Amino acid sequence: MTDYAGFARFYDRIMGDRSEEVERIQSYIGRHRPLATSLLELGCGTGAILSGLAGGLAVTGLDRSPEMLAIAADRVPAAKLVQSDMTSFRLRVTFDVVICVFDTLNHLAKFDAWLELFDRVHDHLADGGLFIFDVNTTGRLRRLDGAPPYLDQFDGNLVLMTVQSVGDQLSLWETRIFEPQYEDIYRLHHERIHELGVPLHQIRAALADRFDLLEQESLDRSPVSDESDRVFFAFRRRAC
Ligand SMILES: C[S@@+](CC[C@H](N)C(=O)[O-])C[C@H]1O[C@@H](n2cnc3c(N)ncnc32)[C@H](O)[C@@H]1O
Repeated sequence: MTDYAGFARFYDRIMGDRSEEVERIQSYIGRHRPLATSLLELGCGTGAILSGLAGGLAVTGLDRSPEMLAIAADRVPAAKLVQSDMTSFRLRVTFDVVICVFDTLNHLAKFDAWLELFDRVHDHLADGGLFIFDVNTTGRLRRLDGAPPYLDQFDGNLVLMTVQSVGDQLSLWETRIFEPQYEDIYRLHHERIHELGVPLHQIRAALADRFDLLEQESLDRSPVSDESDRVFFAFRRRAC
């Protein structure tokens, strides 16, 4: 079983609308690759982002979770979907745009895996193509450690989410969903996901030899730093 196996069918209800991310990605593409025709999303999950982008682009989604991909297949029939690891895939085709968003890069628990993903992105981008991604910063992950649990409910389910530091810049995100069965009996779904925080200068340095930085911005558009909450990047693949 991969991560997200039990979580898949609850994921969209818990994570909510993704239209802000879609608009942000569209704005980067509009500014930097307006004639783009193809896009690949790494860690596409349930297709929440792809569904917003499929109108104007031929979209491909890649994810290692069959449960998440099954939902994406229903939601975005136009998308080509690939079950694979985002650090080791080989599609033998290039794209105008590759995206990896909603903390998906942080899911790679070792920085070496980030470097492998950057290699795969380079292999699969056309010359001048865009690499758009976001990250949870080291500052945000540090602030979440020990913060009060996030509590929510939907359709009678109760959701409890906690984040705690487990050392080496790793955070453990635990989501517990209590699903009502009958009377006062609940079924517990427990998802554990690790996220790695990486200083922004280290990310920029790892890309600098093959990509040009076009834009970086924080979620609330305040100055970008390791203390920002989430940071978005748009890089351009340099021609070889
Ligand atoms: C936070 S979700 C984001 C999904 C989607 N991008 C969105 O915005 O809704 C992260 C996704 O990355 C996938 N994922 C995590 N590690 C992966 C890996 N090494 N290779 C492929 N997919 C991975 C998970 O299965 C999950 O669907």
